[in-house]
Amino acid sequence: MEFPDESFQEIVEGKTKLLVPKKSLTDKVPPKKPAFFNPKARLNRDFSIIAYAAFLNNFQAPKIFLEGLSGIGARGLRVANELDVDKVVINDLNPTALKMAEYSAKLNKLENVEFSEKEVCRFLSQYSKKGERGSIVDIDPFGSPAAFFDCGIRATMHGGILSTAATDLQVLNGLFQEACKRKYGGIPVRAEYGNEIAIRLILGCLRVVAARLGVTIIPLFVESDMHYYRTFVKILNRPDQQNNLGYIVHCKNCRHRKISLETQQTCELCKLKINLAGPLWIGKIFEKDFIQKMLLEISNLEIDKNCEKTLNKCLAESEMPGTYFTIDEIASKMKASPPKLENAISNLQKNNFLASVTSLNPTGFRTNANIDEIIKIFQSIQ
Ligand SMILES: C[S@@+](CC[C@H](N)C(=O)[O-])C[C@H]1O[C@@H](n2cnc3c(N)ncnc32)[C@H](O)[C@@H]1O
Ligand SMILES: [Zn+2]
Repeated sequence: MEFPDESFQEIVEGKTKLLVPKKSLTDKVPPKKPAFFNPKARLNRDFSIIAYAAFLNNFQAPKIFLEGLSGIGARGLRVANELDVDKVVINDLNPTALKMAEYSAKLNKLENVEFSEKEVCRFLSQYSKKGERGSIVDIDPFGSPAAFFDCGIRATMHGGILSTAATDLQVLNGLFQEACKRKYGGIPVRAEYGNEIAIRLILGCLRVVAARLGVTIIPLFVESDMHYYRTFVKILNRPDQQNNLGYIVHCKNCRHRKISLETQQTCELCKLKINLAGPLWIGKIFEKDFIQKMLLEISNLEIDKNCEKTLNKCLAESEMPGTYFTIDEIASKMKASPPKLENAISNLQKNNFLASVTSLNPTGFRTNANIDEIIKIFQSIQ
């Protein structure tokens, strides 16, 4: 326990004590040395805790959490301390990060945590044999997680969860299209709902790797903020028979958009040339039942109040069409001031369209009305 000097500090996140580098609390960008910890990612870790709680509560097989890129162990230690798990294995290449994680494990009197200092794929490969896999596998790298999809899927047991985070936002949002094609096998389109396109590109890439391994992925929950995209998928050891790879068709002229199994050359509304994002995941990105289970866990956990608000939005949008609009982009197209989001949604519903908020954008809404129909309805409420 003889670790800390004045460059380290003990904090509490959730219900868990963590030893962190002091500089990670004061510097604008948390430093990678002596070890990485991002205090602003607390909300992101809170969502993981809720998702893992919902999953573990209903899971019968051994409850083993494998964290491939743990940093100082914030997520894994919280899982060990705040949830009902049999074993947590925390892995990172940085020995200082691991020493800090070990120190924090003692602070919390945890006995269900093991530590490993390996390259992430070597670590996960140790758990790729049937009977030895993790029930939850977490992959949280700097940048793209795509290089770890194979070993992540192989290390996740049948019925388990694989969660990945991506922070290469510029690649996924269309600034470097070629890099995106190379890493994720699909191309993005720059659009207001770019975060949904990015998430679907990540899921599309996971789906391709899973299919190669004869495995199915079922997205349960996704979340994003300004700095990352995170996906939670269930892994089933059977081939996927569904057609869940396709495209997002986006018209930069009239702003029509839709999810499509096939490519398309022209916009069906304005007849001009259309842009295509993909190939990407075109199936559901939220499982309604799982989001309901997440909401039920909230009262048992020490998490940020905003999580509940976001999850209620996820529930509302879970069965809605893919791709969303924002009231601002439509108002700017109409050269009018935007209506209130609630008004826009209730008017769409009054006109017999499906409509809901979306967790992916505070001014976003999902609907099965097309852009022309939306504008007509917005004109009637100005
Ligand atoms: C984004 S940080 C992880 C943050 C952590 N999951 C959290 O929630 O606080 C990425 C970590 O990956 C580690 N890392 C980078 N490349 C690695 C590799 N190939 N194998 C194992 N660890 C690696 C770094 O040392 C760093 O601690
Ligand atoms: Zn068009």
